[in-house]
Amino acid sequence: MHHIAIFASGTGSNARKIIEYFQDSPVVQVALVVSNKKDAGVLDIAKAHGIPVYVIGRQSFYETEDLLAVLQQHRVEFIALAGFLWLIPAYLVRAYPRRMVNIHPALLPKYGGKGMYGMHVHEAVRAADEPETGITIHYVNEHYDEGDIVFQARCPVAPHDTPADIARNVLTLEHLYYPQIIAQIL
Ligand code: GRF
Repeated sequence: MHHIAIFASGTGSNARKIIEYFQDSPVVQVALVVSNKKDAGVLDIAKAHGIPVYVIGRQSFYETEDLLAVLQQHRVEFIALAGFLWLIPAYLVRAYPRRMVNIHPALLPKYGGKGMYGMHVHEAVRAADEPETGITIHYVNEHYDEGDIVFQARCPVAPHDTPADIARNVLTLEHLYYPQIIAQIL
């Protein structure tokens, strides 16, 4: 059984899809959900599925390596970031080399990097009149959105699409592909 952890800080819709996808899997178990927000929606989703949660503070995350012990305790061998906005520190990248992926709501290397998250991404795509956008699943290194790309999927951007329309289309792709790609990597 592969034990994975999901790191998420937001509403957790991707985390929910991953949890549901693997809930009856004999191969993959979501063993832990980590969040940097104690009121994140994703924590309720995890608890409803009986998955342990761990809330981490900035100081612990960046100034200690305590999280490694927690991950080891839950025998976590793979990490999926799903809306986790903090930059991953070096000790964690080193502990999970090519065993940690992130999903980004655009076609990297375009529209990535610090500050490019959430609606900022889709507003930038709209402003540039891109004919298409999509999702990127990539390994995590010490720089925002720069690790090797594992998978991309595309969707067209229509001239009348608002940033909210684009966001909805992109999120649909995320929900469809992220669990499948994690399964494939494992
Ligand atoms: C997703 O758009 C993902 O690409 C980005 O953060 C968002 C998380 O959404 N990294 P949710 O919390 O999974 O609903």
